[in-house]
Amino acid sequence: MKFFVDTAEIEAIRDLAATGLLDGVTTNPSLIAKSGRDFKEVTREICGIVDGPVSAEVVALDHATMMKEAEVLRKIADNVCIKVPLTVDGLKTCKALSGEGTMVNVTLCFSANQALLAAKAGASFISPFVGRHDDNGFDGMDLIEDIRLIYDNYNFATEILVASVRHTNHVLQAAKIGADVMTAPPAVIHALFKHVLTDKGIEGFMADWAKTGQSIL
Ligand code: E4P
Repeated sequence: MKFFVDTAEIEAIRDLAATGLLDGVTTNPSLIAKSGRDFKEVTREICGIVDGPVSAEVVALDHATMMKEAEVLRKIADNVCIKVPLTVDGLKTCKALSGEGTMVNVTLCFSANQALLAAKAGASFISPFVGRHDDNGFDGMDLIEDIRLIYDNYNFATEILVASVRHTNHVLQAAKIGADVMTAPPAVIHALFKHVLTDKGIEGFMADWAKTGQSIL
């Protein structure tokens, strides 16, 4: 499963990229606003840190203006992936851009039928928002299972990018279902490394090693 980080904070991206485990980055207008940075400038900087796809979202709601925005954004770097909302205009834009060989991430997906439409429109990624789905009384992971089944039924190449990930259990469930990618805030990715027994084990080994009075170097 590929790991994307869901942030526009440069230091957090650098930190995770240094682990060698980061396959891409997702941003959205709220994350750009939170960063306080210029959208195009920060996107360019992120694209220079990771080789994989960096999602940059259009903010227009009509197809013609989405295409103009996408034209500006895709010129920033070769690894820019244009993010469009799951609307009629968003999917028209997806179809046009993917036909031109541009990567497209269709965002704000909350149903398996929406995911089916995005795949038919040639999306590179579909982003079902599991956390927001859970918040509204649904089970986000049921949605991932349904999309996996449908995409496998028809051999769609669209990758399932599990988004709105809130905790490590979302990552575990997504991996068990066979999602292609997950995007999570830096804190959730860091939490994946942690286990209380790992910490306890290190503490015990260090205490016993100190008793030997030896050094490896
Ligand atoms: C995905 O691309 C979105 O940026 C993101 O996962 C949204 O997550 P949220 O529901 O925590 O805002």
